[in-house]
Amino acid sequence: MKGVILAGGTGSRLDPLTKYINKHLLPVGPYPMIYWSIIKLRDAGINEILIITNQHHLGSFIQLLGLGEELNVKLQYKIQKNEGGGIADALMSAKSFINQEKFIVLLGDNIFDDSLTPYVKSFQQQDTGARVLLKEVEDPYRYGVPQLDKKENKIISIIEKPKFPPSSFCVTGVYMYDQNVFQLIEDIERSNRNELEITDVNNLYIKNNQLQYDILHGWWIDAGTHESLYKANQYVYENMKEEKK
Ligand code: DAU
Repeated sequence: MKGVILAGGTGSRLDPLTKYINKHLLPVGPYPMIYWSIIKLRDAGINEILIITNQHHLGSFIQLLGLGEELNVKLQYKIQKNEGGGIADALMSAKSFINQEKFIVLLGDNIFDDSLTPYVKSFQQQDTGARVLLKEVEDPYRYGVPQLDKKENKIISIIEKPKFPPSSFCVTGVYMYDQNVFQLIEDIERSNRNELEITDVNNLYIKNNQLQYDILHGWWIDAGTHESLYKANQYVYENMKEEKK
């Protein structure tokens, strides 16, 4: 299975740090943030990885990571043409890299403890469709929030940043898709914030009865704000700093 890491966006919640550096190159523990996504994929046996970022940051990623030799992976790069056009818009740039297979996508600002291996295995056994990972959080209104039918083990719908969250879970930035995702992205429209939303794509999978989920039990954070970036650093220094090469 191949992996895709999304490392574009504007990083506006981390302003002014992101005025001169891409969010995913900011330090988390002793490494640039993007190392953690690459390591998680590699440790789950995924060595062929595409990094999608903005045109003006591409040079920095190549300077840092090259073809991936140092981390023992094979890296390729693509540019998201509409900077900040949304997660689904960015993902569209992976189409030629994927070529009809099932694959995994990580949002490059999600840092977590759990190994991806069991989830990747479950998805490999799933014939078609998509799979997302959920995490119970204190502030679900910041994320995509699933309405759950736990008896049936089903997500009924996902609402992006709801005022009144239908559950205490969020959909994390770990998504697994079959190749139909690219057609579904073409079927969605821009949201109120003028982005192509991954939540709208996931809701189409739900409509087709094709979205499965697992729950992450270990530590997880979206390091996209000053406070959460600080917490990510704190956690990594205290618990994960030995992890790497
Ligand atoms: O962290 C999980 C959450 O991530 C989910 O619960 C939400 O459903 C999902 O929409 C997303 O919410 P955020 O508001 O945190 O997304 P953000 O704009 O911060 O983008 C997340 C990552 O996606 C970011 O690290 C870079 C990448 N990205 C984002 C955009 C908007 C791109 O590569 N291109 C983009 O245009």
